[in-house]
Amino acid sequence: MIYDFDKVYDRRKYFSSKWAVKEVFGREDIIPMWVADMDFPVAQPILDAIFERAEHPIFGYTMIPPGVYESIIERLDRKFGWKVEKEWIMITPGVMPAVNAGVIALTEPDDLVVLQSPVYPPFWGTIEGNERKTGVNRLKLIDNRYEIDFDDLEKQFKVDGAKALILCSPHNPGGRVWSKEELVKMGDIVIDSGGVVISDEIHCELLLKGYEHIPFASINEKFAMNSIICFAPSKTFNIPGFHASVAIIPNEKIRDEFNKTRQGLMGSPGIFGLVAMEAAFRYGDEWLEQVLEYIEENVDYAISYIESNIPGIVPMRPEGTYLIWLDCRGLGLEPEELNEFFINEARVGLNAGATFGPEGEGFMRLNVGCPRSILTEGLDRIAQSVANLKGNAK
Ligand SMILES: Cc1ncc(COP(=O)(O)O)c(C=O)c1O
Repeated sequence: MIYDFDKVYDRRKYFSSKWAVKEVFGREDIIPMWVADMDFPVAQPILDAIFERAEHPIFGYTMIPPGVYESIIERLDRKFGWKVEKEWIMITPGVMPAVNAGVIALTEPDDLVVLQSPVYPPFWGTIEGNERKTGVNRLKLIDNRYEIDFDDLEKQFKVDGAKALILCSPHNPGGRVWSKEELVKMGDIVIDSGGVVISDEIHCELLLKGYEHIPFASINEKFAMNSIICFAPSKTFNIPGFHASVAIIPNEKIRDEFNKTRQGLMGSPGIFGLVAMEAAFRYGDEWLEQVLEYIEENVDYAISYIESNIPGIVPMRPEGTYLIWLDCRGLGLEPEELNEFFINEARVGLNAGATFGPEGEGFMRLNVGCPRSILTEGLDRIAQSVANLKGNAK
């Protein structure tokens, strides 16, 4: 079936967080292009599975259906050639709860836990909020692309004694899809120093043409035995509201620690989350192919629009995700002024770069997972307000 991603839906009707612009940005007239969900209807097989389950009128506690495990094992093999055993799979109610449980299970208070800044804001809270210390491995911005500072990573693990790396793969906000070489180098540094990798791979299937995702634990036995891999159908199939995700933990000892920790922290996804996950993994690919085409076109469109029409903003081409990291330092505004400018002058709601860490100051994150008409209107507003800003500066 052919999906229509140009159609605009009124998402306010059902209290979409993304569209709660008055609450989030303080104004009604904002075009929201921030939190990572897409304004697109989901795959028909997901809807069919939900409707079918809803016809049975009892919604009590549920076991994890065997089909959920089968769909995960089958998908990871088919997509990444990664052979996963059922025992390794933990079904979790969100990737962040799993990352959080991983940090608590595998490290002690005051341990150094490393992240690669700028990075998805809740990573910071996962470390400090659990009384661990944050090791900041700053990404290097080279030719408008993020690269890893391996020397610094090595120092954090070998000299400073860091215990864990929270890896964002693919990377949010930079959209990097880490190469095998980069993953191997990172993994060797961390694991040979006695550390573990908690790899958040939630964006692993949102790949732009020419890029390949490699699950960290699929690389070799050493990596498998010293990592937790978190992923989900939520970003890929636009179903984050179902809170259904997966942690893969091949090492039995780590799995036991994780399980002990998670018992106090979280339950399982709800019934519909499990149903949606299985349907998405088994039957979602026709939709996924089409949505990736649409995203790629939106990325191309946004980048060429910004390059041609918005002086002072440099877009970073993502290799994965539907997020574009905008270098706005050329506008000459302080981080707080920049955020204000986007909200009150451009009237678009983007994520402020500074929330991704100090390295994100001067940047904004644009979500292009929306109908082209919304994207066009948002970009026009930014272009107009930048023109006004430049005009006023003369
Ligand atoms: C890198 C990353 N991890 C985790 C999440 C959130 O995952 P969940 O809602 O499953 O906790 C997001 C959402 O944007 C994300 O970008």
